[in-house]
Amino acid sequence: MKKVKAAADHSNPVISIRGLKKSFEDYAVLRGIDLDLYAGENLVVLGRSGTGKSVLIKIISGLLSPDEGEITVLGHNLAQITEKQLQELRIRIGFSFQNSALYDSMTVRKNLEFPLVRNRKNITKTEINTAVETVLDAVGLSQTINQMPSELSGGQRKRIGIARTLILNPEVMLYDEPTAGLDPITCIEINDLINEVQQRFNTSSIIITHDLTCAKQTGDRIAMLLDGQFQRTGTFDEVFDTTDPRVKPFYDYNFIQ
Ligand SMILES: Nc1ncnc2c1ncn2[C@@H]1O[C@H](COP(=O)(O)OP(=O)(O)O)[C@@H](O)[C@H]1O
Ligand SMILES: [Mg+2]
Repeated sequence: MKKVKAAADHSNPVISIRGLKKSFEDYAVLRGIDLDLYAGENLVVLGRSGTGKSVLIKIISGLLSPDEGEITVLGHNLAQITEKQLQELRIRIGFSFQNSALYDSMTVRKNLEFPLVRNRKNITKTEINTAVETVLDAVGLSQTINQMPSELSGGQRKRIGIARTLILNPEVMLYDEPTAGLDPITCIEINDLINEVQQRFNTSSIIITHDLTCAKQTGDRIAMLLDGQFQRTGTFDEVFDTTDPRVKPFYDYNFIQ
C-alpha cells in the first residue's frame, strides 16, 4: 500500500552522522558514514547481512561507541553528553529489536507497563492504563491485553514489541529488521504499521532491513550500505537504477511487491 504524506523537513535533521568509523579487531565494519535523518521521514538502511546495519543503530542509540566521527541525535553530540543525559536521550529514541524482546513470563499488559513504571517515576495507575490502551489500539491488538507472549503469533509479537517501544512516546524510531522471520503477508502488515506509526505518532524513523519489499513500502529515502559506506542514497527507484554489480543482484534476487 503506497502512503501519502507531507515531505520531510530537510532543514531539520534529527540525526546527523559525519565520518563515522567502527572496526572490530582488524575488521573495518563502518568506513566513513555520513547520514542525515530528517524530521518526519522514514529512512531505510539497506544492506546484506553482516554489513554493519545493527552496529550503526547501536552507535546511534549509544549502545556502542564509534572509533571516529561525529554523531548528533536530537541536538546532542553523543561524544559530549553525560551518562545521565544519554539515559534521558535513550527514552526519546524507540529501539525495536529484531527479536521483539518481550518478557515471556509477563502478560501483554505487564510487558507494556514495564518501560513506563521504570522510566516515569510519578505516573499514576490511570495514566498507565490509558497509555497501554492507546498503544495497543495503535497496533490493532487491544484484545490481547491479558494474553501471554507465547500465545501470540510472530506478527503479533512484533506488534507488541513496537507498542512497547511507542509507550514512551519516542521522537525517533529505530527498527532493526522489522520483518525478519515473518511470512510475506505479515511483512506487508508490519510495513503498513510502520507507516501508520510514523503518521500517528509523528516520529522520524530509521528502518534497517535487507528486505526490498519492506524498503519499497516504508522508505521515503533509501541508503544502501556497501563495503562500509553509503554508496547509493535516494528514492527506491533511484537507488536501483544502476548496473553496479554490487547492487543489481540484490534487486534481482529479491521478490518485489
Ligand atoms: N560487539 C561486536 N564484537 C565484534 N564484532 C562485532 C560486534 N558487533 C558486530 N560485529 C561484527 O560486525 C559486522 C557487522 O555486524 P552487524 O551490524 O550485526 O551486521 P548486520 O548488517 O547484519 O546487522 C559482523 O561481521 C559482526 O560479526
Ligand atoms: Mg543486524
